[in-house]
Amino acid sequence: MSLKDRLKAEIAASGPIPVAEYMVRCLHDAADGYYATRPALGGGGDFVTAPLVSQMFGELLGIWCVESWTRLGRPERFRLVEMGPGDGTLMSDLLRAVRLAPEFLAAADLWLVETSGPLKAAQAGKLAGSGAQWADSLDAVPGGAPLVLIANELFDCLPARQYVQTPGGWVERLVGLTPEGELTFGLAPSEHGAAPAEGAMILEVSPAQDALAGAIAARVVADGGAALIVDYGRDKPEFGDTLQALKGHEKVGALDYPGESDLTVHVDFPSLLTAAREAGADATDPVPQGLFLGRLGIQHRAEALVAARPDRSMVIGRQLARLVAPDQMGELFKAVSIHQPGFEAPGFET
Ligand SMILES: C[S@@+](CC[C@H](N)C(=O)[O-])C[C@H]1O[C@@H](n2cnc3c(N)ncnc32)[C@H](O)[C@@H]1O
Repeated sequence: MSLKDRLKAEIAASGPIPVAEYMVRCLHDAADGYYATRPALGGGGDFVTAPLVSQMFGELLGIWCVESWTRLGRPERFRLVEMGPGDGTLMSDLLRAVRLAPEFLAAADLWLVETSGPLKAAQAGKLAGSGAQWADSLDAVPGGAPLVLIANELFDCLPARQYVQTPGGWVERLVGLTPEGELTFGLAPSEHGAAPAEGAMILEVSPAQDALAGAIAARVVADGGAALIVDYGRDKPEFGDTLQALKGHEKVGALDYPGESDLTVHVDFPSLLTAAREAGADATDPVPQGLFLGRLGIQHRAEALVAARPDRSMVIGRQLARLVAPDQMGELFKAVSIHQPGFEAPGFET
């Protein structure tokens, strides 16, 4: 039985489910979830991420990690952690770039936090000989040493709940069934019984994004360290439904291919930063990816790559534009740092 048919049967038996629960089932269901069974990153897959656009992304995040370790006082032992490492490309590019800093590498205890079996296998293939260890959650990465953590496009696949404005107040949006038995969006029963107006506002909240930011913050407060989070999302509170499904690089309906399409929401940066600050960490405000990569030196890196391979100058120029141009990934994607109090995160200097 497909995941879609199982969800229909479960909803018929037990009632509609919150959007957040639908996301978790679609992404992580053990038998049919997208990440659990068939994640497909890259040109021939469902979506492309920054490290798959260009090696420059991972290399510059490597520079960020070395500079952060330096500003932390070059600890002799620290945990270098990537959360949601995809097919391992980012870490592989990062490790190649930081060979120029052998003391950093010698001090690093490398951990990858990943829930997907197929992606763990891909990472193990790409990172053979790196000494990497795997954990299912940040909690399973040992404490007791400072943290330098990166996460690119992880927070957007954490579940969000949605609420719809009705004349009687905010009511949770659920996934239920049409009279014909197909998946559809609906509302939780409300005591007012009021239907939303045409074009009613939708409010998204992600306790899971806030909880992870809070957990990262608690670690850098307890053990010292700095974390870099890059993702697409809003840098001020906004209303709107951002649930999006991608399959074969095309947007498809969020209810059309459960488990067979990637499902994401925009990251709520203001909310996760509040969670991090409430846990005692310092956190920067979001900086657009184009500006952030520019501060880390992406123009120079692109020029060096072109100098080494003039025949690839057009390709490298296109990759650079994809990462930094405001109408491509440069504005929608944002970087934030969550770090120990008093730390000055590289790339966020004002
Ligand atoms: C969109 S991919 C991004 C991959 C990679 N960071 C990149 O930029 O190419 C999301 C990654 O997060 C992982 N992931 C999803 N949910 C997770 C969770 N709750 N904990 C840890 N990793 C998770 C996925 O398996 C995948 O590796």
